[in-house]
Amino acid sequence: MHSPKLRLEGVTHSYRSGRQSVAALAGIDLTVDEGEFVTIIGPSGCGKSTLFNIIAGVEEPTGGSVILDGEVNGERAGKTGYMPQQPLLLPWRTVEENVMLGLDIRRVPRKRAREQARELLKRFGLSEFAEHYPAALSGGMSQRVALLRTVLFHPSFLLLDEPFGALDALTRLSLQMWLQELWQSLKASVLFITHDVREAILLSDRIYVLSARPARVLRVVRVELPRPRRPEQLTSPEAAGLEQELISLLLKEQTA
Ligand SMILES: Nc1ncnc2c1ncn2[C@@H]1O[C@H](COP(=O)(O)OP(=O)(O)OP(=O)(O)O)[C@@H](O)[C@H]1O
Ligand SMILES: [Mg+2]
Repeated sequence: MHSPKLRLEGVTHSYRSGRQSVAALAGIDLTVDEGEFVTIIGPSGCGKSTLFNIIAGVEEPTGGSVILDGEVNGERAGKTGYMPQQPLLLPWRTVEENVMLGLDIRRVPRKRAREQARELLKRFGLSEFAEHYPAALSGGMSQRVALLRTVLFHPSFLLLDEPFGALDALTRLSLQMWLQELWQSLKASVLFITHDVREAILLSDRIYVLSARPARVLRVVRVELPRPRRPEQLTSPEAAGLEQELISLLLKEQTA
């Protein structure tokens, strides 16, 4: 029987600070199928990163079920490739050593880890920077190295929290295309967070729109544009209509 990579059922979460409790998630239902690219958009502070921390097992939800690979509320640490909102490259490790980090954590022999990191860097156009330190990289390159590090740790299910947040429009566009290629060649399942509605439309099979905090699912839309996608497709009437629909939903939440 077909079972999704991830299913969330009624996931709630509250943070406690002193005697007060802050509700971040108000019952989230969500699925990611094998090989699917699913994106979450929602107002700032609504609980998106909280949801990722829960899926990755960094945090346990206050209520509801997280079903990863068919296992209900099981141990999730190490079972996803999680790239947090502010990924840090370690400045004392070279690019290659940064990409190897996840394998070091898993105690993969260094020689094998280095070979895998080299192959990945080569395949994704970063070979010549393997021996450089992160300080010598541009913002776009750093993001790619952080992404490859995540991929090498766990290639089949990626949780990417605004991976292109701090980049200029052109770099962002080239990385979006790069990620699409990476996703297709790895046949990975991806759960992605962004503030950028066009980015969501360009990359996703489905988009979940969340409400203001505490987050609930306002709408789920399927993006039917053919793949591989090109930025020009965003100007089609279908894509433009979807963009308007999503923006007006988000604007309503922003002012709610
Ligand atoms: N460790 C924490 N302790 C207490 N409150 C927290 C903690 N982490 C997040 N929060 C609160 O939970 C709410 C949701 O935060 P979260 O980071 O999940 O939002 P977000 O949707 O990722 O926001 P952004 O779009 O700005 O990244 C916020 O009100 C935040 O202040
Ligand atoms: Mg966040």
